[in-house]
Amino acid sequence: MEQTLVLIKPDGVQRGLIGQIITRFERRGLKLCGMKFMQMSRDLASAHYEAHVGKDFYPGLVGYITSGPIVAMVWEGKDAIQIVRTTMGATNAGAAAPGTIRGDLAVEIGRNLVHGSDGPESAAREVSLFFSADELITWSRETDRWIRE
Ligand code: RTP
Ligand code: MG
Repeated sequence: MEQTLVLIKPDGVQRGLIGQIITRFERRGLKLCGMKFMQMSRDLASAHYEAHVGKDFYPGLVGYITSGPIVAMVWEGKDAIQIVRTTMGATNAGAAAPGTIRGDLAVEIGRNLVHGSDGPESAAREVSLFFSADELITWSRETDRWIRE
């Protein structure tokens, strides 16, 4: 089953939105299989955002993501990567559609509350950056047959 990494960024924690953000993914029907409350080191931030090294927003991005605690999660399900991305809304929160996490709860790109892996390769890479295999739980959920036929 497809897995994807989701981060509630420091603004989400500071603003008391952890519960609301997790609720969006739970309600959608995705399955949680790993979660930790942590503060990212600069080394982890550089590895996580290696694709953005050299861009003008990179120093601010690393400063932001390491500025306070975050919640790191792995969500699972068929098409989980794409479902997480559409649930989050557009990167630039000011243009994100109402009904999405960013479109309902945020107003700009530099404080956009959440991260979600953008494809299968980045998902595999990012999940293994944040979680060891024994921190990911395989479990069966009784409601799954009411979520997918
Ligand atoms: P994310 O990685 O956070 O899920 O968001 P994304 O794929 O939609 O956006 P990405 O291009 O990967 O950018 C990563 C994060 O960098 C910040 N950013 N700031 N000021 C800017 O122009 C700018 N561009 C990107 C955002 O926090 C974005 O989520
Ligand atoms: Mg990205």
